[in-house]
Amino acid sequence: MSAVEQEPVATEYMAYSLRPMLPDDSKAVAEIEMEAFPTTWPPTPFRKELSNRLARYLVCYVPTEEIAEAEQPEPSVDITPNDSMLKRLLQGVWPRIGLRSRRDDPQAIRWDVIPGFVGMWFMADEAHVTAIAVREFYQGRGIGELLLIGCIELAILRNADVVTLEVRISNTLAQTLYKKYGFEIVGSRKRYYSDNNEDAFIMTTGKIQEPEYQRMLQDKAALHADRWGASERALTTPSLGV
Ligand SMILES: CC(C)(COP(=O)(O)OP(=O)(O)OC[C@H]1O[C@@H](n2cnc3c(N)ncnc32)[C@H](O)[C@@H]1OP(=O)(O)O)[C@@H](O)C(=O)NCCC(=O)NCCS
Repeated sequence: MSAVEQEPVATEYMAYSLRPMLPDDSKAVAEIEMEAFPTTWPPTPFRKELSNRLARYLVCYVPTEEIAEAEQPEPSVDITPNDSMLKRLLQGVWPRIGLRSRRDDPQAIRWDVIPGFVGMWFMADEAHVTAIAVREFYQGRGIGELLLIGCIELAILRNADVVTLEVRISNTLAQTLYKKYGFEIVGSRKRYYSDNNEDAFIMTTGKIQEPEYQRMLQDKAALHADRWGASERALTTPSLGV
């Protein structure tokens, strides 16, 4: 049996899911960071980041049959009649998945595999993607795209105007993904990466609260679901709020 065949859970058409990072995920997320960004030093203190009010992390996970039934908590924000259709939809999505902590019931939830994560900082009207990475074994299966969809949806929920990020000018693969979701190169930072003095492109979306952007996002998310399977996307928890 080859190494690939021995991988425990992934299949090409398995639907992956998203949820906020929890303390128990910090080790897996640190491993992904080390694999994807080996020159990042010091490593991000993910567990500590959980109490950073400006930061949010989403992880992609493979749900096991152990996942608890949803407790259907009330959304922690009000939906006003002025909220966009997408925003209303998103408000309804997150409670569908159980997010009880292991402390509540150690047997309730077990996550076998965390193939990727995305980190964001929210500053003023801007959502800044600090890191997005997928374990090498799981790349090319739609997970990076799912993480990007989730983080843009979270930015919409949090009323950000735009999503921005920096990307190595040599990282054309990631740039292709970002362009697919309306990011454009708006500038560059000289010698931004200290390991090899590489420049960074600054990439920014259009106005994500605009109906036109949200329609594009919904269309792309629907295509992604057709291609890779529908995913549960829990973007926030009652304890985090939105
Ligand atoms: C960038 C990264 C997150 C993409 O994740 P992924 O799960 O492999 O990507 P997906 O399978 O979701 O592919 C999404 C899109 O990315 C682009 N893409 C993915 N693999 C590609 C490849 N081999 N060549 C060119 N484009 C590619 C395509 O636009 C693709 O959309 P398409 O399938 O409709 O063409 C992943 O490659 C990674 O973790 N890289 C290392 C860390 C990194 O560079 N992060 C970005 C820092 S800014």
